[in-house]
Amino acid sequence: MKKDLISIQDLEAKVIADIIDLTDEIKSNKAKYADALKGRSIGLIFQKPSNRTRVSFEIGMVQLGGHAIYLGPNEIAMGKRESTKDVAAVLSRYLDGIVARTYKHEDVKELAKYAVVPVINGLSDRAHPCQALGDIFTIKEKFGGFKGITLSYIGDGNNVLSSLMCASAKVGLDMKVATPKGYEPSKELIAIAKGFAKVSGSKLDFSNDPKWTAKGANIIYTDVWVSMGQEKETKAREKAFKNFQVNDSLMKLANKKCLVMHCLPAHRGQEITDSVIDSKNSIIYDQAENRMHVQKAILLMLLK
Ligand code: CP
Ligand code: NVA
Repeated sequence: MKKDLISIQDLEAKVIADIIDLTDEIKSNKAKYADALKGRSIGLIFQKPSNRTRVSFEIGMVQLGGHAIYLGPNEIAMGKRESTKDVAAVLSRYLDGIVARTYKHEDVKELAKYAVVPVINGLSDRAHPCQALGDIFTIKEKFGGFKGITLSYIGDGNNVLSSLMCASAKVGLDMKVATPKGYEPSKELIAIAKGFAKVSGSKLDFSNDPKWTAKGANIIYTDVWVSMGQEKETKAREKAFKNFQVNDSLMKLANKKCLVMHCLPAHRGQEITDSVIDSKNSIIYDQAENRMHVQKAILLMLLK
């Protein structure tokens, strides 16, 4: 049966561990995998803009000997020019896999339902699994493991946090989260992630206090206050998030060697200051690079 990557919740902890191991192997043996997906093709259906996801999937596929075709919002207009079902069925006749970046999470699920080939979620309004897997790999690379490490996320309870907290809970990484009131992840997802944390033995704590969350952190992670598709909420969000900026005074509360992560794109001067994002402890570009290595592992596991 074909396998998809829609949400972190669908992955067993063992599969996440296997992806991390394969990523490590691919990253250090690039030449060995140069023909691994020779003659294979993927399509990238993107309803929203992208730098990292699009480029890292395209180049990752090329580095595996395969080919990628970008299908932007005006190309196939999934759900407008023709139904998602027809898009899925037709593209399955040409391609070996599909990466989709959609507004609605339900759309990527529908695409996966009707596609005969694997579908990878390249970000929806509810999840960003490739980001979370890249981030978990990056954290393992920096710390050598997860035990006793605290990842503190300060910001919006959005797609990036949703996937990251599930991934952290699955691998046994402790996480503290601060969101403004009303911007928490859904209660259902928190319960699911806490269930994973119970199994792995990790801690997962939520608050509305960025200072409490920053205290003792080994890593501070943030993301934009206004995600793609939420532009109309900009004013209200800027007001709600004004005390959630990751700046020098917040960083002082963290562990001395605390690393800084951001999935990017960043709104510098808003959710994070230049002084923090450009500091020597910032690992944002390693994170961005690792997206490509982890996605090569995902492609190999799903398409081989
Ligand atoms: N982090 C991330 O997914 O970046 P893009 O939106 O540029 O793909
Ligand atoms: N939360 C952001 C992440 C971008 C990679 C968004 O959805 O716009």
